[in-house]
Amino acid sequence: MGKKVLITGAAGFIGKHAAERFLKEGWEVTGLDNLNDFTYSAQIKYDRLSSAGLDVKPLDGGAHFLKSGNFSFYYADITDQPSVGALIMDGGFDLILHFSGMTSVSASSLSPQAFFGANVQGFINVLEGIRQLPPEKRPRLVYASSAAVYGNQIVRTLIDADRNLLTPDSIYGATKCMMETAAQTYANLYGLQSIGLRFFNIYGPFERPDTLLHEIAKGLEQGTELSLYGEGNACRDYMYIDDCLDAVQACCDKWLPEGASSIVVNIGTGSPYKASDLILKLETISGRKLRQKRVPMPKGEIVMLSAGTTRFNQLFGVEPKVSIDEGLKRFWNWHSRYYGQGK
Ligand SMILES: NC(=O)c1ccc[n+]([C@@H]2O[C@H](COP(=O)([O-])OP(=O)(O)OC[C@H]3O[C@@H](n4cnc5c(N)ncnc54)[C@H](O)[C@@H]3O)[C@@H](O)[C@H]2O)c1
Repeated sequence: MGKKVLITGAAGFIGKHAAERFLKEGWEVTGLDNLNDFTYSAQIKYDRLSSAGLDVKPLDGGAHFLKSGNFSFYYADITDQPSVGALIMDGGFDLILHFSGMTSVSASSLSPQAFFGANVQGFINVLEGIRQLPPEKRPRLVYASSAAVYGNQIVRTLIDADRNLLTPDSIYGATKCMMETAAQTYANLYGLQSIGLRFFNIYGPFERPDTLLHEIAKGLEQGTELSLYGEGNACRDYMYIDDCLDAVQACCDKWLPEGASSIVVNIGTGSPYKASDLILKLETISGRKLRQKRVPMPKGEIVMLSAGTTRFNQLFGVEPKVSIDEGLKRFWNWHSRYYGQGK
């Protein structure tokens, strides 16, 4: 029998692509998601599942289960401790990819309880579910943290995933710090092993609709005006989803270095791009001109965020392969096809 993975947040951007990757590699995949429309419309979540092979119709609450081939899906909330505990207890999983969570920095200030609930309580439910299993039956745990744990450390490359650097300046970042602390504490107390992934900007087809790339693509397609901070100099580290999944897989396969029980690593390229560069590139790819207006850089906006990748490369030896031009081309092609259908 094939290996079994539980992917929480399987209807999310990274979760959907992870489900497809592991299905392709012959794994039995169980997805869990509550398909909420809290930070963005749930339609794209149904579409992600459908493109990954599961035709989920909008559901109206309660626990639901669907299966197609090697892909099973639970419509459930990660904060529902009995359901999550039972799923982990009975699932016989070799691996858990914990990618569910609330994701918007701005929305996190408006709804701290929802963010702490989904991100922190949800993660504790996963940790507790694993802890109940005898050590030899425990799955490997790889979970999504975020570059937001670093907060606004202006103009610097975040050299290595160092727990001492944590200075979150958003509720969202704070939830990710708390998840990392919980993972380390469960390792210290119960020997529960894990790898935390500090994702930088992961992009590609089906990415969340609340991102800068979506705004640019929408402006190019529909002629809407983009409000660009300052001179468009804010830099971010963009990693294409396929490269991100190569990194995730390397962590799952190579696992922890000798003697370590819980580590965190940066998942990014180390090559940041300015917002204005991304606009130029997408204008070239699309052959269109973006309408834009300059607005002042909001206080606290991070000027540059770039992943230090030395430690990840030393531990796992995987380099990104997809160039920014190729990745943006794939994103643009998907975006025009998807939204061209009137979504
Ligand atoms: N995409 C990025 O660039 C990026 C960067 C940093 C960190 N991350 C982290 O990686 C993970 C995946 O990100 P993504 O871009 O795929 O986000 P996403 O919003 O597309 O996916 C998250 C999924 O989690 C689900 N979810 C949220 N609350 C839930 C709950 N209470 N119960 C069950 N499911 C719930 C959502 O419905 C969604 O489908 C998140 O934890 C995010 O914080 C992503």
